[in-house]
Amino acid sequence: MVSRILMHVGPSVGNVNVLSASTVPNIGFASPEFNHAMKYALEEYAKITGADSSYTPFILPGGGTVAMESTVSFLEKGSRVLIVSNGAFGDRWEKILSRYPVEFKVLRASAGNVVPVSQVKAEVQDEHYDAVTLTHVETSTGARIPLKEMAYAIRPHVGLIIVDGVASVGGERLNAADWNIDICLTASQKALGAQTGAGLLVASEKAVSRLEGGSISSYFLDLRNWLPIMNAFLSGKGGYFATPPVGTIFSLKKSFELIEMETLERRLERHRICSDAFRKGVKEMGLEIVAVEGARSNTVTGVYLEGIKIQEFLDRSMQGGVEFAAGVHEQIKDRYFRVGHMGWIEPANIIQALRVMENSIISLGGSAGKDAALAAKAVFEKSLPLV
Ligand SMILES: Cc1ncc(COP(=O)(O)O)c(C=O)c1O
Repeated sequence: MVSRILMHVGPSVGNVNVLSASTVPNIGFASPEFNHAMKYALEEYAKITGADSSYTPFILPGGGTVAMESTVSFLEKGSRVLIVSNGAFGDRWEKILSRYPVEFKVLRASAGNVVPVSQVKAEVQDEHYDAVTLTHVETSTGARIPLKEMAYAIRPHVGLIIVDGVASVGGERLNAADWNIDICLTASQKALGAQTGAGLLVASEKAVSRLEGGSISSYFLDLRNWLPIMNAFLSGKGGYFATPPVGTIFSLKKSFELIEMETLERRLERHRICSDAFRKGVKEMGLEIVAVEGARSNTVTGVYLEGIKIQEFLDRSMQGGVEFAAGVHEQIKDRYFRVGHMGWIEPANIIQALRVMENSIISLGGSAGKDAALAAKAVFEKSLPLV
């Protein structure tokens, strides 16, 4: 069997130390080792999102959707929420909130675009909203919003700013406290590069104070149930509300240790350089990128592929040793595929991915320039020793 590189949008390229750290026989969730791992992971998650000591970090069993739906805990009956959606994961907020007694409005962008800051600002100036949901990187297209600018523009006019950072935390710059973001959530398997199995969030003091009122949340996802447990872990003790994902927490701990060693600055730079190199290669192949110029993330790239069946391309690439992801944006889903370059991504993975893309396209009767890997290499050579 060919050993495969996972260039999916999450889980993405694995790190053997991180993945194997989750194998912890005979260590339970009430052990001192687990208490320490959980405390460390909570503190490091707050750090990586730029949350200061006034924020409370949470780690829940599940993933990104669990973290998203748990934010209903901050709402009450009749709360008004503005959903800013740039694609399938922005739309997921609508699917979640339609299960609860809240009101919402959705602002949408077409595939590859993002709703402009001016439009969101005008909306929150005109109407009262208790919360606004923003998707930092829309994984269905790879489009990234100018989060800092957006948060600054809407802050004076809205209750809570909730950011889905599932495809960004650990790969994109994000600063919850400085940018006045109330809630920033992610999943363990994305740019943090850990095992699947956990949803993470930080919540501002203002958000946490909303947990004092009545609840419209489901039982399992009600953060009122999780708050005392998280506080207990943070103070060095343990606690139980529902079984935590023990292996995933040890894997997260290892991820955060490696992030500390690499430093967040260098990690962000590595993501920026790898995505730049990948896109230069894509351009060299004559292919179009889904996200518009100026809104391209450092973690996910959607690539249009005309004249070839996407599934055939994905299958051929898989045989060639690289797994890419199918498109999921309704408007364009048969015309593109997605590439994750996040977490433990490194130059060799980018070069390999471009070579496999070229081979797959040519073997399926399409045309692709021959110099994609060279174009990417040139970016890496210029950037050494940063990656
Ligand atoms: C931006 C974004 N939000 C939410 C989710 C949902 O996360 P999960 O699949 O871990 O539930 C994803 C998953 O890809 C995502 O990319």
